Amino acid sequence: MGATPATDQAAARILGAGEPRARHVAIIMDGNGRWAKKRGLPRAVGHQRGVEAVRRLVRGLEPMKLECLTLYAFSSENWKRSHDEVDDLMNLMRRFIKSDLEEFVANGVKLKIIGDWRSLAPDIVAMLEDALARTANGRQILAVALNYGGKHEIARAAAKAAAKGAITPEAIEAQLDTHDLPPLDLLIRTSGEIRLSNFLLWQAAYAEMLFVDTLWPDFKPEHLQQALDDFARRERRYGGR
Ligand code: IPE
Ligand code: IPE
Ligand code: MG
Repeated sequence: MGATPATDQAAARILGAGEPRARHVAIIMDGNGRWAKKRGLPRAVGHQRGVEAVRRLVRGLEPMKLECLTLYAFSSENWKRSHDEVDDLMNLMRRFIKSDLEEFVANGVKLKIIGDWRSLAPDIVAMLEDALARTANGRQILAVALNYGGKHEIARAAAKAAAKGAITPEAIEAQLDTHDLPPLDLLIRTSGEIRLSNFLLWQAAYAEMLFVDTLWPDFKPEHLQQALDDFARRERRYGGR
């Protein structure tokens, strides 16, 4: 082995020797409704403030050097909510894409969508397709889970793997929506709930987990930085030793 390049040495000093840096973090953005309820406001306001938390986080992402941030925005079970609430969420999505797409492009964000998003309203599908094309050359991946369910994703992947031959873990993994993303390092859920709610079931097999009490609208880039620092101190074993 040759001498360690100076830049690697500098990086090792910042991180501490041997401390792993997370490449891929996913967040279950929960607690918009409770944030609003605490203030006597409609749930829709909580969702609006939730979108602002997303915007703030994406703006603060660059220096964190993450390769990929995955956000759970709408689950395959969220259709059970009232028609009005589902409508509010879809309209927020439309507005967010319109208002923030240019900034994504300018900041090198590469959008990726996971889940059964092609069955959303046709105008949303068209907007997302346009957003995917326009951010295709971005450096940092922002993956958004829309109409996403982990069980559905695994079932779809297994069916595709079966059609191609053997159903092995590797063959299923190659067909998951996340097949082109780095392995999941850290899964965070806000709002104090301690469950996965059908999010990234397969990918979470060896991910580190962090459950925080912060309600999603209160989540700041500093919270993510704290989570990354906490991750760097963890020891991952993958069943060995
Ligand atoms: C998360 O906040 C946003 C979505 C699920 C879309 P919630 O709406 O689940 O907020 P709580 O859990 O009711 O507080
Ligand atoms: C998970 O939160 C889905 C998203 C954050 C998009 P929920 O609020 O829907 O989950 P449950 O119902 O508490 O399990
Ligand atoms: Mg919730």
